[in-house]
Amino acid sequence: MTHRAVINADVTKGIIDKNIYGQFAEHLGRCIYEGLWVGEDSAIENTKGIRNDVLHALKELKIPVLRWPGGCFADEYHWKDGVGPREKRKRMVNTHWGGLVENNHFGTHEFMALCEMLGAEPYINGNVGSGTVQEMSEWVEYMTFDGESPMANWRKENGQALPWRVKYFGVGNENWGCGGNMRPEFYADLYRQFQTYVRNYGENKIYKIAGGANVADFNWTEVLMREAAPFMDGLSFHYYVHPGGFWNKGDAVRFDEAEWDISMQKAYHIETLIDKHATIMDKYDPEKRIAMIVDEWGAWYDVEPGTNPGFLYQQNTVRDALIAGISLNIFNNHNDRIKMANIAQMVNVIQSMVLTEGDQMLLTPTYHVFKMYTVHQDSERVSLDIDTTSLEADGINYPQVNGSASKQEDGTVNITLTNASRTDEATLDLHVRGLDYKNVIGEVITSTDMHHHNTFDEPEKVTPTAFTDFKEIDGGINVSLPPMSVVLLTIQAS
Ligand code: AHR
Repeated sequence: MTHRAVINADVTKGIIDKNIYGQFAEHLGRCIYEGLWVGEDSAIENTKGIRNDVLHALKELKIPVLRWPGGCFADEYHWKDGVGPREKRKRMVNTHWGGLVENNHFGTHEFMALCEMLGAEPYINGNVGSGTVQEMSEWVEYMTFDGESPMANWRKENGQALPWRVKYFGVGNENWGCGGNMRPEFYADLYRQFQTYVRNYGENKIYKIAGGANVADFNWTEVLMREAAPFMDGLSFHYYVHPGGFWNKGDAVRFDEAEWDISMQKAYHIETLIDKHATIMDKYDPEKRIAMIVDEWGAWYDVEPGTNPGFLYQQNTVRDALIAGISLNIFNNHNDRIKMANIAQMVNVIQSMVLTEGDQMLLTPTYHVFKMYTVHQDSERVSLDIDTTSLEADGINYPQVNGSASKQEDGTVNITLTNASRTDEATLDLHVRGLDYKNVIGEVITSTDMHHHNTFDEPEKVTPTAFTDFKEIDGGINVSLPPMSVVLLTIQAS
């Protein structure tokens, strides 16, 4: 069959918030230590303790916002342990992730320096589960108060004279689970209490994010919206793709055809969940003032054989490129409600951008998708309708082709398309309306084998290449999407 699509470049649908391309760095496994932080005395080249190879790679992604310090770690993190002279910082046990000793060498000052180097907005996740209202309130004072106060004075003693700008602040994480095993009514009240003392100092205006639901816990969203909507700017939502389910997730590299198919189907499932949570949000917030913040998402598999089960280290294949491409297209297409998303996690953990081993680093297929999709950041979404075939896994249908499109200020239109089939090319007649154009160029991420991934021996097995498999037809472009591909088409306005 020929798939069909119509792009109406003059029918605009609002800005795609660049924060949809956000990242997440957690004190988990080798994400912070080794992956980002090597310390100033390391033999690995670094800037203020952050390794240069990773830093340079991440800069290319134009990361708009970075969430830290967790995840589950956030609700057992006590920020005061991570400031002051490093050699005097308290050592603690990271009980949630692998029971390792955390020396607190990467704390608030180091995180802020990382954000500054990346050009990313900090998104701090506070501790509700095992912290206090005072502790959270003082963290905000420490970071953002410009004047004479106990916390601001302490910050200055620790070498930071000027306050930082902190916009995004999360009040707890997964408080239905690792963040305290709370019922939604209880958390809603705690949220109201804690957020009261998350103050705005001077010009710094905090955007408050309430801990949200997991997967299909619609009651959580209902209760939070009913009880606490006026006190929040965003409500989070978490969803991971586990091909085999949470307890037996499946291998990141050694998987079969059925696992590919179920992974695609589960990647698409996020759209159904977004729609259902959004419908509940619409009931309490028809103006869409409160954003849906997908601050954890990605494909989560079993750890690589022989690695620490508490470190969640996994490889990343062309399957992950597809999952990233499909998910990001879905987020773009829900830009009316989704204003931020943070893939888990940036380095060496779940669906990471880069993997490291000693002084080596590689870029994953997911990295390449994020780089390809930077064109959508803060661009204007335009209407794209796709008529495609259904594929099926586990009795559930999902589309073979998905996509999203946006327009830049100079009129250039970018379309990102995915073909989830393992075997079949997708021939697509793309009708282009509302745009006079002079030129089309393309880029593709694909591979001939669904297991292909980048290793330290073969770091460029899956990388983007120029895409030329398209031709002009009457009123548009005929595109041949290879099986298992993510494609960017750039239509340059005349
Ligand atoms: O990303 C790994 C963990 O998954 C996070 O720490 C937690 O929030 C979620 O359950």
